Amino acid sequence: MTTTQQAYGEDNFGFATEQVHAGEIVGGEFGARITPIYLTAGFLFDSFDHAEARFRGHDGGLVYTRYANPTNAAVEAKLTALERGVDSLLVASGQAAITVALLGILKSGDHFLSTPSLYEGSKTLFRENFARLGIEVEFVDDPHDLDDWRRRIRPTTRAIYGETIPNPKNDLIDIDLIAGFAREQGLPFVIDSTASTPYLIRPIEHGANIVVHSASKFLSGHGASLAGVVVDGGNFDWARYPEKFPQFSTPIGVGAGGGENGPGGPTLVQKFGRTAYLEYTRTVIAGRLGPTLSPLNAFLLQQGLETLSLRVERHCLNALAVASWLEDQPEVLSVDYPGLASSPSHAIAVKHYPRGTGSVFGFTLAGGRDAARTLIDSVELFSRMSHMGDVRSLILHPGTTSHAHLTDDQRSTLGIHPGLIRLSIGIEDETDLLEDLERAFAALRASAGIGRREAPAPALVGG
Ligand SMILES: Cc1ncc(COP(=O)(O)O)c(C=O)c1O
Repeated sequence: MTTTQQAYGEDNFGFATEQVHAGEIVGGEFGARITPIYLTAGFLFDSFDHAEARFRGHDGGLVYTRYANPTNAAVEAKLTALERGVDSLLVASGQAAITVALLGILKSGDHFLSTPSLYEGSKTLFRENFARLGIEVEFVDDPHDLDDWRRRIRPTTRAIYGETIPNPKNDLIDIDLIAGFAREQGLPFVIDSTASTPYLIRPIEHGANIVVHSASKFLSGHGASLAGVVVDGGNFDWARYPEKFPQFSTPIGVGAGGGENGPGGPTLVQKFGRTAYLEYTRTVIAGRLGPTLSPLNAFLLQQGLETLSLRVERHCLNALAVASWLEDQPEVLSVDYPGLASSPSHAIAVKHYPRGTGSVFGFTLAGGRDAARTLIDSVELFSRMSHMGDVRSLILHPGTTSHAHLTDDQRSTLGIHPGLIRLSIGIEDETDLLEDLERAFAALRASAGIGRREAPAPALVGG
């Protein structure tokens, strides 16, 4: 087997070349050009001694797909190159990636700080599931205010968490600012880059330490399978803080059989250097909890990644066109798209996202919940669906779906008003998307029995 991954991830090639070629496994017995699907639970040992050596991690060979698999490894190498990290781990979903990424750092009794605007599934994971494990999350009020972050730091604080383009409000965070604060505090900065992808931003180049994605979205792109990835930036000095992160500075066993490490052996940092975090998260956390990605789904992700930049470029162009059109409609109170000059996040968009700010955003109808229902029931091209980053355009009403479990007050605080609709703009023809929306807005006007320029007065809450 020949792999060509070594040549990538060091600015040798452009993004489009890397997304096609980085990490690929070329050749093998039959000269296959595409990295094959190695759909196998385990890998043969030549002999008794070979099995023992493999379990001790001597020859770096494969043991069992829960720890590593060649198809997954090829896709991991591609993502490592695209994100400019040092190593990556594929898992079964974005939620699994967030969970194992943080459990690689945190233990019972630890506390971590997060930006306030996050994917709702992450918030409930942190607030409810992590709380049951004895790990406490605290959300800052204003992520742009370093005093807000600073006054919440405790002796037990162990990580900083955020999202590049927060879902669904698009209230962008200043990654440089938060990464600088995390560095000052000696804490790793973990960031969910699902909505941006490495084509729009590489958070590690802005000082983030660990990047997670729901690869089910833009990275796969075709809405066929779930996947998640954890990328290690290799830029956090774990050995400098042995009291905070003892797992990296004590000789603990990793690998299928616990490896060779044990009392008196090398620490993870001594043994693995800049990939110590990923090695621990792969073998001790994911390897034991078991959210393994099927090599079949890794293959689908690989196929999606090969066209990532082309798709995201088109997603962004379409999203800007739709957002601009929506902003001109009298029934629309606001459009949360940072690519628009009217967005409070526009300055950060210009600074961090010169290629565009993705294609998932919300807009709020003055007519509240009833107007949202009419509009959502009137589209024909958009799919009514809870997902994002798909080549197809999708539409959802967060207030009655993803955020239905919250109280009216909680939704209002988050800006999830009854008239808020979330769109994930696909790669269809812009004119067809606008025509579909025009048809739905016409239905909305007809149902309200009003003319185009006679929108009702704004009513943000209720309804
Ligand atoms: C920003 C973000 N992170 C993580 C997830 C979870 O990903 P998955 O559905 O692949 O578990 C989602 C899902 O919508 C998301 O939007």
